[in-house]
Amino acid sequence: MKKKLIAGNWKMNGSLSANVSLLQAVLDGSQGMNCQAAVCVPAAYLAQVQSMLSGQSLIALGSQDVSAQEVGAYTGEISAGMLKDFAVRYVIVGHSERRQHHAESNATVADKAQRALSAGITPIVCVGETLADREAGLTEEVVKRQLAAVIQVNGHCISEIVVAYEPVWAIGTGRTASPDQAQEVHAVLRSQLKAATSHSDRISILYGGSMNAANAAQLLAQTDIDGGLIGGAALKAADFLAIMAAGSTTA
Ligand code: PGA
Repeated sequence: MKKKLIAGNWKMNGSLSANVSLLQAVLDGSQGMNCQAAVCVPAAYLAQVQSMLSGQSLIALGSQDVSAQEVGAYTGEISAGMLKDFAVRYVIVGHSERRQHHAESNATVADKAQRALSAGITPIVCVGETLADREAGLTEEVVKRQLAAVIQVNGHCISEIVVAYEPVWAIGTGRTASPDQAQEVHAVLRSQLKAATSHSDRISILYGGSMNAANAAQLLAQTDIDGGLIGGAALKAADFLAIMAAGSTTA
């Protein structure tokens, strides 16, 4: 059985001093926990967090985005090779905030996943429907289309990705998908991955969207929920630790 993966997405939050207090408390409180964990930090803090995480293996370093290009005249972009220089293990691709504010298409997200994989970094590929999609009965169609683009471009490497199901209407809203709602979509994604690779059992499917200390255990207990991608609650050490603890008991 895979260990649950609890990944924090700090988004555009933090400072040199705030990062020290948050991460030190998480490191101190997570000793002996039986899950996998990561913190996906702003690129500006990769070096700082890399050094804070050195010498332990429970919490891995993650980034929040990667360029779809390899190298060259792309002002402001950060390549997968650069992330590798900081021993980044995971990178979030296709987060709904990037799809929405930076017009990232399914094709761009697939290319970003490919760049990460070729640098030996695990992409956390985010998929999820908007409220309008859900109300129109399009949830399954939307998430499958988003994932299909990544499967198509990445072929046999697909077993090396992590998927995060993040209903857009649940992100940062305090409105969580119910365990049943989340499980239903996770099962759809699981069968899509099964059809794509004989190694689909290696792929973790995370739930994200207002996961918190109070609801994590119930969500993580669902058959096809292999972990969480945590935004707001990852900024409070006690909450992130409670979610890690829930992930350590629900194997
Ligand atoms: P949230 O964010 O936990 O604050 O809803 C999750 C995410 O956007 O990854």
